[in-house]
Amino acid sequence: MKTTDLPAVFSTGRKTILRPLNKATDLASIVRWVNDPEVQQYVGMFLPSTLEQEKAWLEKLDNDDKNIVFAIETKPAKGRPGTFIGLMGLHGINWKDRVAETGAIIGDKRYWGRGYGTDAKMQVINYAFNAMNLRKLTSAALAYNQRSLRYSIHCGYKVEGTRKRQIFKDGEYRDLIILGLFREDWLPIWRKYQRTGRVK
Ligand SMILES: CC(C)(COP(=O)(O)OP(=O)(O)OC[C@H]1O[C@@H](n2cnc3c(N)ncnc32)[C@H](O)[C@@H]1OP(=O)(O)O)[C@@H](O)C(=O)NCCC(=O)NCCS
Repeated sequence: MKTTDLPAVFSTGRKTILRPLNKATDLASIVRWVNDPEVQQYVGMFLPSTLEQEKAWLEKLDNDDKNIVFAIETKPAKGRPGTFIGLMGLHGINWKDRVAETGAIIGDKRYWGRGYGTDAKMQVINYAFNAMNLRKLTSAALAYNQRSLRYSIHCGYKVEGTRKRQIFKDGEYRDLIILGLFREDWLPIWRKYQRTGRVK
């Protein structure tokens, strides 16, 4: 691998790295993922999205102090470069109350349910609490999105409530589960994760 091919690593976990998004190379994957019905069933998006729209979204992020989105890549192994598999973000950052909402998409479905999301999420939480000095993170997941609920709960989030019949998906109004995470509840999990690579 040439030095020029190496990613701009922002944070390194056990299975993944977080890096800044790259407009030149990331757009095609993002467009594929956000239009994929299997991904859309779990997220708020429901409209088709073009390359131009995703490019405009990325450009807007450049001057946005309320939203930060990282690319998730698998860690390079045995001289092979990592694979760009998803997005991990902090949204609605509120610098007064020191809160933000986490959100993620692993768009490459081959990587679902194999611990990559948890690893990337632990890194973004570490950044939010230990670099940005945020106090609390929230998250929201459709009640049927068990994988998302479970990975958030493994990271220390607690269910704070249910927005009943909030989101229209696949012909029905679905419940939305609201979760919250305080730094003090996450710190022991983080220490354990750093030591053992396990969250539970
Ligand atoms: C949600 C998402 C980011 C989680 O990342 P991930 O890498 O798949 O999650 P992980 O493998 O780290 O952890 C998933 C947990 O759910 C479990 N899980 C996996 N598949 C599951 C399923 N079908 N049902 C219930 N739990 C499941 C995993 O085993 C793990 O829990 P465990 O350690 O107790 O076994 C990813 O699956 C994704 O992007 N999905 C599509 C979009 C989405 O849902 N985004 C979030 C919107 S709120």
